[in-house]
Amino acid sequence: MHTLTVDLGDRSYPIYIGTGLLDRAELYTPHIKGRQVLIVTNETVAPLYLQRVKTALQQTSGLQVDEVILPDGEAFKNLDTLNLIYDALLEKRHNRTTTLLALGGGVIGDMCGYAAASYQRGVNFIQVPTTLLSQVDSSVGGKTGVNHRLGKNMIGAFHQPQCVLADTETMNTLPERELSAGIAEVIKYGLICDEPFYRWLQDNMPALMARDPRALAYAIERSCQNKAEVVAQDETESGIRATLNLGHTFGHAIESHQGYGQWLHGEAVGAGMLQAADLSWRMGNISAPELEALRALLQQAGLPVTGPADMTVDDYLSRMVVDKKVLDGRIRLVLLQRIGEACITSEVSRELLLQTLQAGNRLGCP
Ligand SMILES: NC(=O)c1ccc[n+]([C@@H]2O[C@H](COP(=O)([O-])OP(=O)(O)OC[C@H]3O[C@@H](n4cnc5c(N)ncnc54)[C@H](O)[C@@H]3O)[C@@H](O)[C@H]2O)c1
Ligand SMILES: [Zn+2]
Repeated sequence: MHTLTVDLGDRSYPIYIGTGLLDRAELYTPHIKGRQVLIVTNETVAPLYLQRVKTALQQTSGLQVDEVILPDGEAFKNLDTLNLIYDALLEKRHNRTTTLLALGGGVIGDMCGYAAASYQRGVNFIQVPTTLLSQVDSSVGGKTGVNHRLGKNMIGAFHQPQCVLADTETMNTLPERELSAGIAEVIKYGLICDEPFYRWLQDNMPALMARDPRALAYAIERSCQNKAEVVAQDETESGIRATLNLGHTFGHAIESHQGYGQWLHGEAVGAGMLQAADLSWRMGNISAPELEALRALLQQAGLPVTGPADMTVDDYLSRMVVDKKVLDGRIRLVLLQRIGEACITSEVSRELLLQTLQAGNRLGCP
């Protein structure tokens, strides 16, 4: 097992990464302060892993362990579903010292985290991410929330967990598409801040796609390390943390145009990163071969490299302006300064942006 630390002063917390961690009672207990735990999971993950987590928690005598099993899917990441968590907490009389435990992917983690941020003005929570995307991204950094009909993640809070427990064995049951979606965020770290890791990914993508345990463990650890470092520097996204949104302004436009849940978040980010890279190329920051190599890497990872065929430039622009990353009506984008370094700019020429949005499946063509 490897342990990383998210360094946030007195709110610092460990990320445990390894195999068989779900069953290890001693990893949970130091992070449970009161006598109550509510496990928040969904109907897909519950049959796979709930019993193992319960058994581990029940080794602590006198601990009240409850569960709430939510419907599965991004379409349920909303205030109605959130209420089911509050219902369970109140019906089972959980008090201010309770600990919520998120067992599932990013949807569960974000909802459970927001429930923890708001229940009785804030209670503790533990992240047990079970998708690649949630292990390398959403479980680390304390962003929590739910979607609104008019925008993704529009209702939320920053609330850091007590610990993150990433059991790499849970990757074995993950559907192929979900694996690819997680790899999009892994590639993102290489692109924005870790060129050696990007090169490693170019050499090791087949091993990752084959779920080679050592390759997966390395990719998860390196990704968490990158995310933890960025979060430690800028917890509330006033600066450098925004670089983690590479591809996301384009990607969120795709997700919301398609209706949440049609394109997976990571798939939209994959296509969005190539659009961001195309714009970076148009601005002279990266070369055409580098853009082509990124396209090849995304394809190897089973990710889409173009947006939805029916999405027009106006469809993108109207949604990109609603996106949170937009300040004062100007589109503020994360682009590549070079491979391994991102930059944030509101100085994007409208003409070049339109060229990227018009390029469709001809990204990288003048
Ligand atoms: N908070 C953040 O910083 C942050 C960062 C990135 C993404 N997110 C959010 O994360 C969400 C996406 O997360 P996700 O990609 O994990 O999606 P998800 O939570 O919907 O999980 C994907 C699917 O895999 C299933 N699943 C989970 N673990 C499994 C396992 N081990 N085996 C088999 N099936 C399993 C889930 O039930 C679901 O059907 C989005 O809502 C996005 O906004 C948040
Ligand atoms: Zn993302």
